[in-house]
Amino acid sequence: MDQSGDFNVVKLGEMAFIHLYIRCLYTLLICTVFDCTLSANTEIKVNPPQDFEIVDPGYLGYLYLQWQPPLFLDNFKECTIEYELKYRSIDSEKWKTIITKNLHYKDGFDLNKVIEAKIHTLLPEQCTNGSEVRSSWSEATYWIPPQAFTVHSLGNLETKIQDMDCIYYNWQYLLCSWKPGVGVHFDTNYNLFYWYEGLNYALQCSDYIKANGKNIGCRFPYLESSDYKDFYICVNGSSESKPIRSSYFIFQLQNIVKPLPPDYLSLTVKNSDKINLKWSMPGEPIPAKCLIYEVEFTEDDTTWVTTTFENEMYIIRQLNESQQVCFRLRSKVNIYCSDDGIWSEWSDEQCWKGDMWKKTLLYFIIPFAFVSLFILLIAFLLMYKQKALLKMLFDSKKEVFSQQEIHC
Ligand SMILES: *[C@@H]1O[C@H](CO)[C@@H](O)[C@H](O)[C@H]1NC(C)=O
Ligand SMILES: *[C@@H]1O[C@H](CO)[C@@H](O)[C@H](O)[C@H]1NC(C)=O
Ligand SMILES: *[C@@H]1O[C@H](CO)[C@@H](O)[C@H](O)[C@H]1NC(C)=O
Repeated sequence: MDQSGDFNVVKLGEMAFIHLYIRCLYTLLICTVFDCTLSANTEIKVNPPQDFEIVDPGYLGYLYLQWQPPLFLDNFKECTIEYELKYRSIDSEKWKTIITKNLHYKDGFDLNKVIEAKIHTLLPEQCTNGSEVRSSWSEATYWIPPQAFTVHSLGNLETKIQDMDCIYYNWQYLLCSWKPGVGVHFDTNYNLFYWYEGLNYALQCSDYIKANGKNIGCRFPYLESSDYKDFYICVNGSSESKPIRSSYFIFQLQNIVKPLPPDYLSLTVKNSDKINLKWSMPGEPIPAKCLIYEVEFTEDDTTWVTTTFENEMYIIRQLNESQQVCFRLRSKVNIYCSDDGIWSEWSDEQCWKGDMWKKTLLYFIIPFAFVSLFILLIAFLLMYKQKALLKMLFDSKKEVFSQQEIHC
């Protein structure tokens, strides 16, 4: 009995071994045919992040996306887990993707639209002895609270301001202007709020431009260290009769700079055919290296336009006899300092009246000289003739005299 029992045990063990062996072979076969990593990782699972939310700190579009670590992370203690975050405006095709180890992310959003975001946990390869493992998605959406933004009421859309226009004059003074919404009640008035990184909270415009007692623009105060940052603006309004829809704007100040026009234009003709143009910008604060100039050059009746980064240029005269060369120019912030810019007004025109002295010589001095010479000649001739006449008279008198003398 004992023997047979042992035998049975051995048999069972053998059978188990064979079974395992076949299973291994089978797996190997599957592995070679299909992608193995998939089947190897099916056991490792991770939960999505918890409490995923989009928080609006009141910065007019700068939002916080935040979350907590997933549950049951104990199995991956030695692992740095990562999160893959995706977000977009609900009407845009593309998601913006961020991989981070942090539990928050901040970015600017267009609050005129609904924002959606999703996040999942990532286990890197080194934690799973294979390929990356992802959790399911946690999702969140955000839109402005309904009292200011009623999607279902179509008329409401028209209540927002129109034709918002912001210009950062000479990289110094920001000015925005707008028109009231369509068909809004006469009691409607609009207010502008702004924020950029560095301000503790959104500020209201302190110097409104008004028309008929209504705010139609804002003169901003000095905006300390505000370049190369997103600048957020919200123009909302109030009316007794109906809710006014807010408008949101994001831009960077260096992209909406309109410089002052260049001044101190000078135009000198170096040789007979080389013209030197020079100018300068009226003072600070735009660095010279940040500007591009458009030069409009006129030679008699032909005009052409060129651009330059320098504040000086040489031009070869095209026409030998050109009588008048002129130029004027305008400036803009260049691509090395901004993505975009607004052309300044045109400067005053500076001209050089080419060979005017030759003309003067030809049409005035030479004829004058001729006339003078002619008059002189006539005078001389007259004088000569007069002399001759006098002489003749004198001679005849003398003759008479001598005759008289003889007579005596
Ligand atoms: C990875 O493999 C090692 C041994 O090679 C093992 O100790 C560890 O538990 C494995 N980790 C996971 C998450 O399977
Ligand atoms: C306008 O926006 C500001 C800043 O977000 C807010 O404090 C204010 O209550 C809003 N006003 C209206 C009428 O919605
Ligand atoms: C200008 O004058 C030079 C000689 O002074 C002559 O060679 C050239 O052809 C002239 N050009 C024109 C456009 O008249």
